[in-house]
Amino acid sequence: MFFKLNDEQLMIQSMVREFSRKVIALTAMERDRTKEFPAENLEKMGELGLMGMMIPPEYEGEGADTVSYVLALSEIAYSCAATAVVMSVQNSIVCESINRYGSESQKEKFLKPLAAGRVIGAFALTEPEAGSDPVSQTTTAVRDGEGYILNGTKRFITSGKNSGIVIVTAKTDEEKRHKGISAFLVEKYTPGLIVGNVEDKMGLRASDTTDLIFENCRVPVENLLGKEGDGFKIAMTGLDGGRIGIAAQSIGVAQAALDATIKYIKKRKQFGQQISKFQGIRWMLADMATEIEAARQLVFSAAAMKDRGEKFTTQASMAKLFASEMVNRVTAKALQMHGGYGFTKDYAVERFYRDARVFTIYEGTSEIQRVVIANQLLKDKRLP
Ligand code: CAA
Repeated sequence: MFFKLNDEQLMIQSMVREFSRKVIALTAMERDRTKEFPAENLEKMGELGLMGMMIPPEYEGEGADTVSYVLALSEIAYSCAATAVVMSVQNSIVCESINRYGSESQKEKFLKPLAAGRVIGAFALTEPEAGSDPVSQTTTAVRDGEGYILNGTKRFITSGKNSGIVIVTAKTDEEKRHKGISAFLVEKYTPGLIVGNVEDKMGLRASDTTDLIFENCRVPVENLLGKEGDGFKIAMTGLDGGRIGIAAQSIGVAQAALDATIKYIKKRKQFGQQISKFQGIRWMLADMATEIEAARQLVFSAAAMKDRGEKFTTQASMAKLFASEMVNRVTAKALQMHGGYGFTKDYAVERFYRDARVFTIYEGTSEIQRVVIANQLLKDKRLP
């Protein structure tokens, strides 16, 4: 492997691998059927330091680096992608945004319980008419004395129902395009915050995805994250890290699909021999493993750049683009190699196939990742 992991990273990987396969894997298939939120598992993950991994210990985080985080997230996704997306949003977009932009009292009040995993966090940017283009959002926040009054509807919010704290973006100035968007920390049970429709999804079924409706929801001034007008920057910076997380999640699911396939093709016999002896199968297997490895190197590279404090927007989008498309190819091949059995609920590959489908969509579609990459290339003054 080109990228060499240090002892601490290897230790985290091995600890999370064991926990994931012994604990998380046990109920993943059942939760996919029942859609039951993995609350107790997330609690245990909090105790293991997995919910605020990159947050300093003074705010009850683990103080780990991003490489360790992507290793851990991949291991959780290996067993249950639904649990992994909750972990990903919590770590990358929610905790890191508060750590980066929050005041000392916000860190004390909101970051500590989030980083320790005592509370689940959500990030509400998307709206019914504003997905890839979040600047066109219409939720408003109007200053009223010592507070802001929020009105609007957010859509497709991961952990919308199960979260205790939501970072929500809203327009504080209609005239200023992205500079008129601000971010607020809103607590569960704040009057006027209503959990709306809970989506019935194709995959990631144990993670809730909901509408959040704000109806004259009053938020105190001290819950403004950053300054007025910082909301879009907070979201974009958070999504840079979030995209590395989705790439790591893709690797976990792809690896699980590959491992399940190896097990199956060694057992399954047709034409008098194990199907793993057929060249057509072997070539597919080799392509799957090669693609996973390529994605892994891209993720490590983006994570390491983030850890070194370099600008990593392009690499995060490249990792997300390649890894999320890779896992869709890999899970499709895995299902194909399982034949008719792959199409049944008796084998996990059909869940992997369904779970992977959203990875090219959320936290920026593949098309948006290409926009980000191309924009950065065209801005680069070192290039002709
Ligand atoms: N980091 C910091 N700042 C950034 C940035 C980044 N990565 N990207 C853009 N900005 C800044 C720009 O510098 C610019 O600021 P200035 O004017 O001060 O220079 C400002 O933001 C506007 O930039 P653009 O003009 O490039 O903005 P745009 O409107 O053209 O949009 C986009 C750019 C990349 C398409 C962006 O809208 C985007 O990423 N869209 C996809 C949204 C998305 O990923 N949604 C996912 C929802 S969240 C989710 O899925 C979470 C979940 O629950 C799982």
